Amino acid sequence: MSDRPWMNRALTSEARAALVLGEMTREEKLILVNGHIGNPSPNLPKPPDGGMGSAGFVQGVERLGIPFQQQTDASLGVANLHDGVGSTALPSGLAQAASWDEALVEAGGAMIGAEARAKGFNVMLAGGVNLTREPRCGRNFEYLGEDPLLAGVLVGASLRGIQSNHLVATIKHFALNAQETGRMVLSAEIDEAALRESDLLAFEIGIERGRPGSVMTAYNRINQTYAAEHDFLLGQVLKGEWAYPGYVMSDWGGCHSTEASALAGLDQESGQEIDKEPYYQALGEAIDAGRLPAARLDEMVGRILWAMFEHGLFDHPNQPGEAIDREAHLDAAQRAAEAGIVLLKNDGLLPLSREVGSIAVIGFSADIGVLSGGGSSSVVPWDGFARAFKPESNSRWASYLRQRYLPSSPLKTLQAAAPDAAMRFNDGTDVAAAAALAAQCEVAIVFAEQWTSEFIDVPGLSLPNGQEALIEAVAKANPNLVVVLETGGPVTMPWLDQVPAVLEAWYPGGRGAEAIGAVLFGEVNPSGRLPLSFPRSEADTPNPVLPGIEQERGKFDVTYPEGADVGYRWYARTGRPPLFPFGHGLSYTSFAYANLVVDDGEALAVSLDVTNTGERAGADVVQLYLTEADGRPTSRLLGWAKVFLEPGETKSVTIAAEPRLLADWDLDAGGWRIADGAYGIAIATSATTPVLRAEARLSGADV
Ligand code: BGC
Repeated sequence: MSDRPWMNRALTSEARAALVLGEMTREEKLILVNGHIGNPSPNLPKPPDGGMGSAGFVQGVERLGIPFQQQTDASLGVANLHDGVGSTALPSGLAQAASWDEALVEAGGAMIGAEARAKGFNVMLAGGVNLTREPRCGRNFEYLGEDPLLAGVLVGASLRGIQSNHLVATIKHFALNAQETGRMVLSAEIDEAALRESDLLAFEIGIERGRPGSVMTAYNRINQTYAAEHDFLLGQVLKGEWAYPGYVMSDWGGCHSTEASALAGLDQESGQEIDKEPYYQALGEAIDAGRLPAARLDEMVGRILWAMFEHGLFDHPNQPGEAIDREAHLDAAQRAAEAGIVLLKNDGLLPLSREVGSIAVIGFSADIGVLSGGGSSSVVPWDGFARAFKPESNSRWASYLRQRYLPSSPLKTLQAAAPDAAMRFNDGTDVAAAAALAAQCEVAIVFAEQWTSEFIDVPGLSLPNGQEALIEAVAKANPNLVVVLETGGPVTMPWLDQVPAVLEAWYPGGRGAEAIGAVLFGEVNPSGRLPLSFPRSEADTPNPVLPGIEQERGKFDVTYPEGADVGYRWYARTGRPPLFPFGHGLSYTSFAYANLVVDDGEALAVSLDVTNTGERAGADVVQLYLTEADGRPTSRLLGWAKVFLEPGETKSVTIAAEPRLLADWDLDAGGWRIADGAYGIAIATSATTPVLRAEARLSGADV
């Protein structure tokens, strides 16, 4: 240790980073800020040796014992690996967010982090927390919905779980990567207060709670400047006001300059073979030419080293080959899926009886698998996909555009749950045949899907490929119809009145079918709540036409009529009731709220009694909203509590309001300000269904 004093664990990470930095040559420093693709491709410049076939890597410095950074995607499991090298797929981000359960999301993060470590990775490109502004965005499934508090708290939990394995995790994509169409060129046009109160707040809360070692910038521009060159976002807000101690990396292909990005606050160029030029190879020259202070390179490297010390990369080198308990991990994925399934509608058909005589199982691939989302987050399952379609595309993103199914069979699961039932399958491509089959069975279940992927948005919110007609025809043939949705985000439902039961299962992960089966038969009482609104139509959304979709190529601007009022706040502000509101989700039992006590003054907290008034054990998500401020109606989630109750049981819950959701961003003062006055609040079962209302008085405060 004497020749490597930075290995003294008694020192702070800052002190340790400074000690190594003091020993490094210019060339060695440059190694740490230059990231490479981990998976060479014939169309791209060749990276140095050392990649593991994943998203990327950064070389180490053997002389000083600085380890390689081996980077893998991401939030849903260890991705970017080839067929035959599987891992455990968690359900989609939206499914995880629909649990509203911090402990569960943290456990999911710990599980995938353990797999990353066992496979030899020490950086996870996880933590996607872009708010759902555009319901057609192809990547909504990866993220955590439309609310800054819910998304921020849950991404923090996921990051804590991942980093508990001595890994660095990122939070991404900073900021406003709200759609895939034109993501490399568009400029997100937004005013500062709106940005602070929405997307930036999600990042701020996520960083506070999750302490990620790294932040990944977005591809897009914000108010005309690329995210990777954004001095306001990186320099002023992140590193200045938030005093963020970690490092900032670019997204793959998202760095556009040498000194402009370095001066703005970008610390590491990722996968530089994808960028137009390997910009950070030229940092040394920029310093020699006086275009970049040498001290800035030290700061960049210092931040990277700090994160590597802080998150255990030096002290706990990862050990490829550590055993992975696949069964335990798949169980964890199933728990996450069960908690995230949302019962949208139930006219009494669910739960199904195990004594049911016959079931028509209808749906493309419902005999063999569940759908997974496409793109960098897509996890190859342990024993390979059940089914995969290759796109007809020569784009360099073509590998993302594969519609793939995880091997978790709804048909087999349902048969196992009701062994005496006659189980009949139809893939739904022949509507008449599917309807005829449904007519012969006691119950019909249609598994309807909407495939979405990174790099493309969906053209609209309708279920594609004739599935609306399929549902309508099956509903006519058999009124005992359950529609199970496997979607990347919200869909419209012109057929809703004809269907008695609808379940949103999202992309449910490696044990998705088992989770769906457990909910359908009542082994699990559904407790998921929507982390985003389901609009009635595209016309009701802030941008009825997807920005940029009508443009062939070139830069364009996206404006956000909703401003800070993302999602349910927009629907409330414009008086357009959603099809299903944020926070909505039914249970097989019922809950009652009583004895609301408001503790107000400088801060706000409420307590109340929650009783399970039904016959089954189950969990409720008690939601606290701001409903009126300054005499005007408003709608903001202030906090929530998830509580499990046996039949007849009552528990007292306390919910503390997040002060920044009571406040507005005061542009003049440059901070959050709660105005002195009276506020309306409500305990609610969704953003549009208040149950108990109260008034709170708050004394003005800066928070
Ligand atoms: C995505 C990132 C991802 C990176 C590396 C990009 O296409 O936007 O989220 O981490 O690829 O795979």
